[in-house]
Amino acid sequence: MEVLSVASEAYPLIKTGGLADVAGALPSALGQCGVTMRTLVPGYPSVMSKLSGGRVVQEFDDLFGASAKLIAGRAGGLDVIVIDAPQFYDRPGSPYVSPDGWDWPDNWKRFAALGWVAGELGHGMIEGYQPHVIHAHDWQAGLAPAYIKYGATDRVRTVMTVHNIAFKGFFRADIFEQLRLPPQAFEVGGVEFYGDISYLKAGMECADFVTTVSPTYADEIRTPAFGMGLEGLLNNRAATVTGILNGIDTEAWNPATDKALVQTYSSSTLHLRQANKRAVAERFGLDGVDGPLFCVVSRLTDQKGMDLLLQVVDGIVDLGGRLAVLGSGDAYLEDGFRHMAARHPGKVGVTIGYDEALSHLMQGGSDAILIPSRFEPCGLTQLYGLRYGCVPVVSRIGGLADTVIDANPAALSAEVATGFMYAPDSAHALYEAVRKVVRLYKDTKTWKKIQRRGMKSDVSWETSAALYAGIYAQLTGLTTDGQH
Ligand code: ADP
Ligand code: GLC
Repeated sequence: MEVLSVASEAYPLIKTGGLADVAGALPSALGQCGVTMRTLVPGYPSVMSKLSGGRVVQEFDDLFGASAKLIAGRAGGLDVIVIDAPQFYDRPGSPYVSPDGWDWPDNWKRFAALGWVAGELGHGMIEGYQPHVIHAHDWQAGLAPAYIKYGATDRVRTVMTVHNIAFKGFFRADIFEQLRLPPQAFEVGGVEFYGDISYLKAGMECADFVTTVSPTYADEIRTPAFGMGLEGLLNNRAATVTGILNGIDTEAWNPATDKALVQTYSSSTLHLRQANKRAVAERFGLDGVDGPLFCVVSRLTDQKGMDLLLQVVDGIVDLGGRLAVLGSGDAYLEDGFRHMAARHPGKVGVTIGYDEALSHLMQGGSDAILIPSRFEPCGLTQLYGLRYGCVPVVSRIGGLADTVIDANPAALSAEVATGFMYAPDSAHALYEAVRKVVRLYKDTKTWKKIQRRGMKSDVSWETSAALYAGIYAQLTGLTTDGQH
């Protein structure tokens, strides 16, 4: 079976968040299930530089105003089809915002192009290549199912995966005429969203099947508190909506072989983590490594509860903990963490920025990772934490609730706890969780058990890839080897 994955990010080509990890890892995981997956990505500079053996399979004089080539090849271990449209994608920095932090004003065209090209590929634009399924990820790819639905083809089925319902790809209605969709697409069952346009909603409405990245988030977004205006749509089509938990690339994230670590280790050599802990302390200017070292690797945003964490930093220090923060995001939060580092020299260290290798070292050296999210479709850093014996401390929400087992008395006596979970999403509840961590950390035997159990948790793609393959099979009536 041939599936075309459509995503604006795919690790290691381009990454701003978890979407990239997922889109980058799924093709090989699905390969194990007999699915051949190619990935359609925009030709950002980092993508173009990794492309090798590319072959131009199509040219466009006017792709929403840009001239473009479609190049099929290999990049970063993935089979890709790249939209080489320098006018749209050859820009420095983030794929979505200009260096001064504003959305690129032509984002609607840049991602209409992504969806439209996907649609054309679904309609059989390239000779010899006919995907059975188009799998679109997040708002940037949201128009792909709409181009298929209104293009009246029965050659291809569509799946829309929502990684984060907060990002809607919202644009004014007046772009509609230029979207190359028929007039009837501006309807409740199409791209229209409260009188304007949402690419995400278009995908969720037009796709044959909608998935999101954890079962709990799939339930949460059917309620007004989390659905952000799309709960009605999701309830209407509940039979074709499901939550499939993300996995992680267990080769790229393997403490026994990870080159970003100062010292590799396994669950039977946990004492070796100490060398990584010292290295983290050094990188973040922290004194001593006796007490628990907490880390944060995150976008610094309200979604991630970083404002709540700021309120708890003094408490962490008072309890004898250390804190290392790696992240970037909202200016007021970046400033807040810088301020905390200045207030607690040697106890709190902050690196504002994005550093993949450092994120690995932090998982390999910190004792616990704090993830106080207000909503979390799945979350990957708790999975990396489990895999690395960096005990996750999470809010009871979305995919966090589905992947961590709280060290409550029942779980401790049943010997199943893998982390710490708290509710509600308040600074007070977070502080109480930290207190519990500090207490249990002193009980070295119990702590090590929690670490080891986490390291044994199944965080691979195996189960979830099979669930995606099952959806493709159900939609197409084909087995994964392409037979009826
Ligand atoms: P989201 O996609 O909502 O940001 P996830 O937990 O799904 O959250 O994925 C975030 C990914 O980005 C993880 O791979 C995490 O390690 C990585 N990440 C986040 N911030 C940074 C950073 N500042 N430096 C390096 N990696 C980061
Ligand atoms: C989004 C979500 C995150 C999820 C990731 C990958 O960015 O915020 O929870 O893990 O997508 O699916």
